[in-house]
Amino acid sequence: MKAITLPSFGDESALTVAEVPAPIAQAGQVVVDVAAAGVNRADLLQRQGHYPPPAGESEIPGLEVSGTISALGEGVDDWQVGDQVCALLAGGGYAEQVAVPSGQLLPIPRGIDLVDAASLPETTCTVWSNVFLTANLQPDETLLVHGGSSGIGTMAIQLAKAVAARVAVTAGSAAKLEACKELGADILINYREQDFVEVLSGATDGAGANVILDVIGAKYLSRNLDALATNGRLVIIGMQGGIKAELNIAKLLAKRAAVMATGLRARPLAEKTAIVAAVREHVWPMIEVGSVRPVIHSRIPLEQVADAHRTLDESQHIGKVLLTL
Ligand SMILES: NC(=O)c1ccc[n+]([C@@H]2O[C@H](COP(=O)([O-])OP(=O)(O)OC[C@H]3O[C@@H](n4cnc5c(N)ncnc54)[C@H](OP(=O)(O)O)[C@@H]3O)[C@@H](O)[C@H]2O)c1
Repeated sequence: MKAITLPSFGDESALTVAEVPAPIAQAGQVVVDVAAAGVNRADLLQRQGHYPPPAGESEIPGLEVSGTISALGEGVDDWQVGDQVCALLAGGGYAEQVAVPSGQLLPIPRGIDLVDAASLPETTCTVWSNVFLTANLQPDETLLVHGGSSGIGTMAIQLAKAVAARVAVTAGSAAKLEACKELGADILINYREQDFVEVLSGATDGAGANVILDVIGAKYLSRNLDALATNGRLVIIGMQGGIKAELNIAKLLAKRAAVMATGLRARPLAEKTAIVAAVREHVWPMIEVGSVRPVIHSRIPLEQVADAHRTLDESQHIGKVLLTL
């Protein structure tokens, strides 16, 4: 089958179209004939050699796909050949076929196009597990989303609004903030021109954010703590601004606040299965009634994967970039 491989690490030119052996469904797995694969920032890190797959997982990039089941492994009895699905992966999505544990499969939500469904697994599982299962966002609380126009951000805004939370976002341009506003964001902060701590404080009568979904890490740690409300929860899922910073424990203690960090890709199968089940129970109905929708920036043929990576590298996009087969 055709797949994107990484014979070496580096810029977009490292992404190589190659013929590789097709995967076989092991016990508990299915093979999906891929219709589309989502492009994630993590794939860029993998391409650069900074984010290897967990041990035993495919070396082919790609953390999510949509498509049609073409084979069942031993012991899989809740899915059929021919079912249209989308799937959360530890790797292997940039290919014509991928093998995936059945616990990481989701049906295509009613009303959603098969290709567009490839945008859903990584964003819904990441946002639901972090903002709701880990940080326990409640109705009427304020969520601050850094990078509101990203794949993750556009989903976080919509899910938080769907549970009647108030949403603040940071983004790097007026057009991106406008897109966040259209998705329901209430407080818009241009991180290139404004101080998010000040703007958020002004917009919340000094209270700050009950939950912050952070993708920057070290560079924002101190200011995120300043932006947190009493009893606030900061959940860090990205390290675009570095990995080491000083934490003022006195501030953390005075606010009775929590700092947490999680990664989805390396979680054990049982945890991923539980997250996928929670997403199916809580998020799929929101998508099916239209209160949450995929936000697609572009659909690009697999062979033009370098263009797709360049789009994310240059942060030209709003929402998700998909590779189509
Ligand atoms: N831990 C996990 O399990 C997990 C899972 C999925 C994703 N993630 C992380 O979540 C992040 C988003 O992923 P994605 O695939 O959705 O990527 P993406 O669409 O490329 O988004 C990256 C975002 O970062 C924003 N950004 C860059 N510098 C910023 C700054 N100084 N302040 C505020 N925002 C800034 C960008 O905003 P502008 O475009 O406006 O500059 C952009 O919206 C990535 O860091 C990724 O690694 C983590």
